[in-house]
Amino acid sequence: MIFRNKSLYFSVVLADRKVIQNANNRINFIYFAFYKKSFILLMKRTIQLAFLLLSMTLGSQLIISQTHNIQVEAKKAGSPIQKTMYGIFFEDINFGADGGLYGEMIKNRSFEFDHHLVGWLPFGNVKVLNDKPCFDKNPNYVQLSYQKELTGSGIENEGFKGIGVKANEVYKLSVYARCPNADSIGLKVEIINSKNDIIASTKFRFSGNDWKKYSLDLSPKSTEAHASLRLTLITRGVVDMDYISLFPAKTFRMHANGMREDLAQALADLKPGIFRFPGGCIVEGTNLATRYQWKNTIGPVENRPTNINRWNFTFAYKKFSDYYQSYGLGFYEYFQLCEDIGAEPLPVLSCGLSCQFENHDPKENCPVDSLQPFIQDALDLIEFANGPATSTWGKVRAEMGHPAPFNMKFLAVGNEQWGSLYPARLEPFLKAIRRQYPAIKVIGSAGPSPDGKYFEYGWREMKNLKTDLVDEHYYKDPKWFLSNAKRYDSYDRKGPKVFAGEYACHPKNKKNDFEGALSEAAFMTGLERNADVVNMCTYAPLFAHVDAWQWRPDLIWFDNLRSVKTPNYYIQQLYAQNVGTNVLTTTENKIALAGENGLYASSALDKNKNEIILKIANTSTEIRKITYTLNGLKAAVRKGTRTHFISGNMDAENTLDSPNTVVPATEEIGISGNTLDVELEPQSFNLLTIQL
Ligand code: AHR
Repeated sequence: MIFRNKSLYFSVVLADRKVIQNANNRINFIYFAFYKKSFILLMKRTIQLAFLLLSMTLGSQLIISQTHNIQVEAKKAGSPIQKTMYGIFFEDINFGADGGLYGEMIKNRSFEFDHHLVGWLPFGNVKVLNDKPCFDKNPNYVQLSYQKELTGSGIENEGFKGIGVKANEVYKLSVYARCPNADSIGLKVEIINSKNDIIASTKFRFSGNDWKKYSLDLSPKSTEAHASLRLTLITRGVVDMDYISLFPAKTFRMHANGMREDLAQALADLKPGIFRFPGGCIVEGTNLATRYQWKNTIGPVENRPTNINRWNFTFAYKKFSDYYQSYGLGFYEYFQLCEDIGAEPLPVLSCGLSCQFENHDPKENCPVDSLQPFIQDALDLIEFANGPATSTWGKVRAEMGHPAPFNMKFLAVGNEQWGSLYPARLEPFLKAIRRQYPAIKVIGSAGPSPDGKYFEYGWREMKNLKTDLVDEHYYKDPKWFLSNAKRYDSYDRKGPKVFAGEYACHPKNKKNDFEGALSEAAFMTGLERNADVVNMCTYAPLFAHVDAWQWRPDLIWFDNLRSVKTPNYYIQQLYAQNVGTNVLTTTENKIALAGENGLYASSALDKNKNEIILKIANTSTEIRKITYTLNGLKAAVRKGTRTHFISGNMDAENTLDSPNTVVPATEEIGISGNTLDVELEPQSFNLLTIQL
């Protein structure tokens, strides 16, 4: 374009030399100007091109430098990882036991709630009495008498926010009954759906003036989440009834007085290494009288005294005046469940302090010099779990159906205690346990928070007392979890080991969303890397009924028929199913990945399965390219798996209606040589296994 204009100008000025001369000058000038302009332009273009090429080169170099070279010392088995590393913590909160894991479907089956007919709708002539009871520790029972017309007297139970029954499944109803006038009494039994239609019906015939147990099966013709159980007197006369109980015929592992199958199976599927029970704050009680006393939770289930649940009135916005503990799920059942799912039992006992959050009355703490009954409870518990069937408490266990010891190894004294009240009480427990049962590992508490003056004081005291492990609790936001992945890197290796006994990421919405789960996954690489000092960890709380919860987030949610596993559950499961036996040092540029470029990584060797397990979270919003080098490994073709856990939406949750919104996916992979290239999706958790 420029040169075409130049020749046109040249032809115009040729006629006049002067003009030409002038023109030449001008041309020269113009030429010069043109050339200068085009030269500059050319230069500009060249510079632009060069810049483009340079930036492309630099760019490609940048992309290359974004590949993270992670070195795994595959042949140097590091610190052992305890089998107890990843476990579960159960507390009867959110209707987790009665109305949840425990299979019983009748609320207040023994008429022992403070208001004896809570959960029951009486009609006609109904009284609650306690003379000549069937069970001395649960003395109340109900009396139905004929009134005016047949079918005029009865009671109806509402269950726990309804009774959930499935069509054609079998449900086992049992009742203790007597006929005070020695006549024979008929009782109609019905399951009613939420529209008041009868979906199952049968009859009892009671006779005699002595308490007897009666049982029958019911099979509803339709499925109902909010059914009720109606018992109606159908003959003239009087009947006394107690311990009215309804269980699904199918319980977990078909135990009598067993667990709700889907919920217990969800625990088994986690493959937990340790099982902490029965709490939490319910161990302490709102006061000493309502603390959890394990001896009240064993023996014949009908005669275990009912206790109020400490979570009954705790939160003003979430009051459940009908929240009690039947103790049908008691210490024997907890030990049995541990055995069924292969977890080490870890009971927690009261140290003589009432819940320090709830009760500030010093009289509600047992004085140090009066602790002996509490200490004896601890010693007796060890005998109940481990003693021979000939010992006092071992005999009780054997009579309950388990002659072989449960082989308990851990015991926690105190839940979340703080301040000087605690070590003063823990010390005499420790002395007595060490003297009689030196092999038992005793766990002390570092208080309710992961830092601060109570935490530091607690740790100092636990070190002085030489507890085997120290229980730390943290309910924190995602930022805290992400910035605490190095928390244990600098812990004292010579002191007690760490038990992260209660932890959960609490995002802003307090929901079980993907953000919380990913933050926990990232943080847990730091637990694994420090397995020499962190010996166990348990998420909290475990269960929540969608219609009756007090605390969230929680690991597993349920209603009366269904349950749903949260994203947090899947993280716990990925860790617990892939524990490994030894830590493998994992670094980029010689440092552990604990948040650098949003990456968190740890690796383990599993000597038993003969495999390497690589765990890596990418919390950044970009793809991260990784090249793993498995140092020391001979190049070979190997099989493996890759599990991705991604959502694309940090707020995503699983719900009862949509339980599979966020679930991990596993694919098989092949590896050749001793390097492995992986591309991590933004905001993802990844688990790779490599067969050796
Ligand atoms: O997990 C819920 C509660 O949190 C526990 O009962 C208590 O130990 C902690 O404060």
